Amino acid sequence: MLGSLLLAVSRSPLARRAVAGFPPTRSVVDRFVAGEETGDAVTAVRRLTDARLSVTLDHLGEETGDAVAAAGTVKAYAAMLDALRPLGLGGRAEVSVKLSAVGQRLDEAMALDHARQICAAARDAGTTVTLDMEDHTTVDSTLSVLRELRADFPATGVAVQAYLFRSEGDLRDLAGPGSRVRLVKGAYAEPASVAHQKKRQVDQAYVRCLRILMAGEGYPMVATHDDRMISIAEVLAARAGRGRDAFEYQMLYGVRTERQESLARAGSTVRVYVPYGDDWYGYFMRRLAERPANVAFFLRSLRTK
Ligand code: FDA
Repeated sequence: MLGSLLLAVSRSPLARRAVAGFPPTRSVVDRFVAGEETGDAVTAVRRLTDARLSVTLDHLGEETGDAVAAAGTVKAYAAMLDALRPLGLGGRAEVSVKLSAVGQRLDEAMALDHARQICAAARDAGTTVTLDMEDHTTVDSTLSVLRELRADFPATGVAVQAYLFRSEGDLRDLAGPGSRVRLVKGAYAEPASVAHQKKRQVDQAYVRCLRILMAGEGYPMVATHDDRMISIAEVLAARAGRGRDAFEYQMLYGVRTERQESLARAGSTVRVYVPYGDDWYGYFMRRLAERPANVAFFLRSLRTK
């Protein structure tokens, strides 16, 4: 209930102004966001990779309504990839892109062109791109852009949301050789006509999706903080004969940090999703919606300032 309310608020421009303009918000946002500048992101990357973690960097922004801002996002990714190159991390530091930040809502062809430029910059930096998945109205377009990108940049990955009814079918199409798929539960408020609504159903769907990915020929990226899903992934990977280098775990910056480190110490590849930039509102509200305790943490911080 609270989660749905927060997800609705996450799309309200009025609420965005109220929350973003409230000074104490910043310290709470910092728990989930690495900073505003490229330099902040690079500092976080150094710290995480020193701790044997891999990263995927997200320049925050979504639902861009103008072409200039969309082009600005491409420039921000190019600058970030330039800053990463001297670290020589290769694929240990990849990038995540929301197509709506590069113009998907304005014109799919523009978003494809922008995404191509980011993929080319990533290739020049020795790494690759994963496309985030946004609300269900964007899935066909995102998968169609992915197909075009993979023709030139075969290692481009995509996130698939287990809560959508369609996802098992999408995964069967995507689980071929060379594919990189990040399986997530799903973070948007979706109607009952397209998505499972109850946590139990979403978890069961996640397991069915995991089975398809682990039995497939691609590289599964198991993006969850849920220990049950992690244990099931371990079993399915072993059953499919996958070694530790044949799949990876992914978690969000600031969420279950000790678990990220313990999985990495045990020999798994663990990639941390590191968002940075000043357009943090939508991302931050989705993190609050995922866990009521985060809202309590946020409210406590307002009282103590
Ligand atoms: P679940 O929500 O059941 O949480 C399991 C446990 O994890 C909780 O009990 C709690 O302990 C901890 N936890 C989870 N979320 C937390 C939070 N915000 N703060 C503190 N603790 C938390 N979604 C999407 O729709 N499109 C996308 O492209 C992506 N991309 C993406 C990348 C990566 C690397 C990750 C990890 C996640 C995403 N997501 C996403 C978000 C995803 O859909 C989902 O909303 C969150 O991962 C929470 O789901 P869990 O699988 O962690 O399980």
